[in-house]
Order: sequence, then C-alpha cells, then structure tokens
Amino acid sequence: MRAPDTPILAKGDVLLAVENVSLSFGGVKALTDVSFDIRKGEIRAIIGPNGAGKTSMLNCINGFYHPTEGRITFKGATRRRMRPYEAARGGIARTFQNVALFKGMTTLDNIMAGRSLKMRRGFFWQALRQGPALQEEVEHRRVVEDIIDFLEIQAIRKVPVGKLPYGLQKRVELGRALAMEPELLLLDEPMAGMNLEEKEDMSRFILDVNQQFGTTIALIEHDMGVVMDLSDRVVVLEYGRKIADGKPEEIKRDQRVIDAYLGVAH
Ligand SMILES: Nc1ncnc2c1ncn2[C@@H]1O[C@H](COP(=O)(O)OP(=O)(O)OP(=O)(O)O)[C@@H](O)[C@H]1O
Ligand SMILES: [Mg+2]
Repeated sequence: MRAPDTPILAKGDVLLAVENVSLSFGGVKALTDVSFDIRKGEIRAIIGPNGAGKTSMLNCINGFYHPTEGRITFKGATRRRMRPYEAARGGIARTFQNVALFKGMTTLDNIMAGRSLKMRRGFFWQALRQGPALQEEVEHRRVVEDIIDFLEIQAIRKVPVGKLPYGLQKRVELGRALAMEPELLLLDEPMAGMNLEEKEDMSRFILDVNQQFGTTIALIEHDMGVVMDLSDRVVVLEYGRKIADGKPEEIKRDQRVIDAYLGVAH
C-alpha cells in the first residue's frame, strides 16, 4: 500500500523526525522548540507531568494541530501542515486520551469503521457494489475478524461499546486503530483508569502489536513501571520543553526527570 515514492525503511531507521516544533494557543505555549525522532520498529514513550504538552505533541504528529514553528518529517516527507486524514492514509493511527468510539455501535462496527479510510480508496467500485468492491469488503471483514481474535474480544463482537466496561472500551479503540494497519501507532494513555489486570492485558497487546506486526509505537503513559517495561526509548517533556531523551534506565536516573516528577507529587 505504499505510495510509489515512499522509501522502504529498515528497522532502526528514522521513521518520524520532529524538529524544533513549537505550538502556541494564544498566550499559552504548549510546546517550545521540541526535537526528537521515532525509529522504525521501536516503542517510544513520551512522558511528563500533566500539561507538559504530550497530547499536543501527538496532535501535531497526526495533523490535528499545526506547529507554529518547526517541522515534522514522516517517511522522508517533510511538512508544515497535514490534515488528520492525510496522516491516517500515510500510515499514522491513534487512540485518544478520552475514549472516542461510537458508543451506540457494536464492537465489530467500531473496528470496521477503522477500515473506512482504506475503503475509500475503492469508493467508485463500492458505489457500484460489484467486482472489486465485493472482494474488498470480504478482505476488510477478514482483517477486522483477525483483529478481534488478536485482541481476544470475540465475546463482545455484537455488544454496543457504550455498554462495555472502560478497560474493554480502550481495547476496542486499540482495535479500531489497528484496523488501519498503521505503520506508526500513537497511543495516548491507553491504560489510564485501568486496574492492574487490565493494565497487564493492555501491556501485552501493545508488545504483541509491536513484535508481531512490527508496528512502530509512540506511547504516552503516566505509569512509570509500564513505561520502563515497554519502551525502547523515552522522551520527557516538562512545561512544553524536552528535558530528557534516552533509554528507560538512563531516564530513571536523570535528575531533571526526578525533579519534574517530585515537583508534581509535592
Ligand atoms: N486546544 C487547546 N487550546 C488551548 N490550550 C490548550 C489546548 N490544548 C492544550 N492546551 C494547553 O497546552 C498545554 C499542554 O497540554 P497537553 O494536553 O498537551 O498536555 P499533556 O501533557 O497531554 O497533559 P495530561 O497529562 O494532563 O494529558 C496545557 O497548558 C494545555 O492547557
Ligand atoms: Mg494528555
């Protein structure tokens, strides 16, 4: 599904580069001169105290917000502005800090909705409901059923997601993002509000997505145990600025990071 001019990247190559990105909302500087990269195949954690700019960063990466300054390069293409659907088509999918699903629709239909961007590719044929469109529909169903099996949510296929406990809603949302078969998956606090068991399940799914599908993941998470366990590298934001960047064991010992977190706790 690659565009003809998109380079094929090997594991460890820079998939996404954020360079000197700043973002302001009126007087509020959500991000100031932030630079870091995400390499193909890694789990890259983005951490920091509340209001540090983590969600804003993801919003810049997937085109929800446009950086006031700086640039973002994804698969070798640099841009100042991109719309969310362009990011999605280019291979960037995400989940949201607050679950964003169609609550009245079933698990199956919500995950199917994640395929809609892929389907639009064949919109003309879809409208005719024949030939390639029929074949496409079969293919979409197969991908969706595979995801449902993978996430072990067969039992709730037909349940409206509004009726599901929160932990399962988060899992369905992950399923919808996976339905896009992303190259880069952005997860904004996928474990917030979960109990220990739900967190363990979600951690396992995130690792499996990364290892089995080779999906590159950017993960915002407050639980330091989870961050240390899952991530290959960690970038730390505080008041919209990057204060540290490195391997989990380096970050854990970094005095600025320790201070930033103690600052929140006290
Ligand atoms: N749409 C917006 N309009 C105005 N200010 C915003 C907007 N989005 C974010 N901000 C501000 O930008 C700053 C960073 O917010 P952001 O949501 O990115 O932080 P965060 O690190 O995700 O925090 P949390 O851990 O609480 O989710 C905050 O001061 C926030 O109030
Ligand atoms: Mg946030």
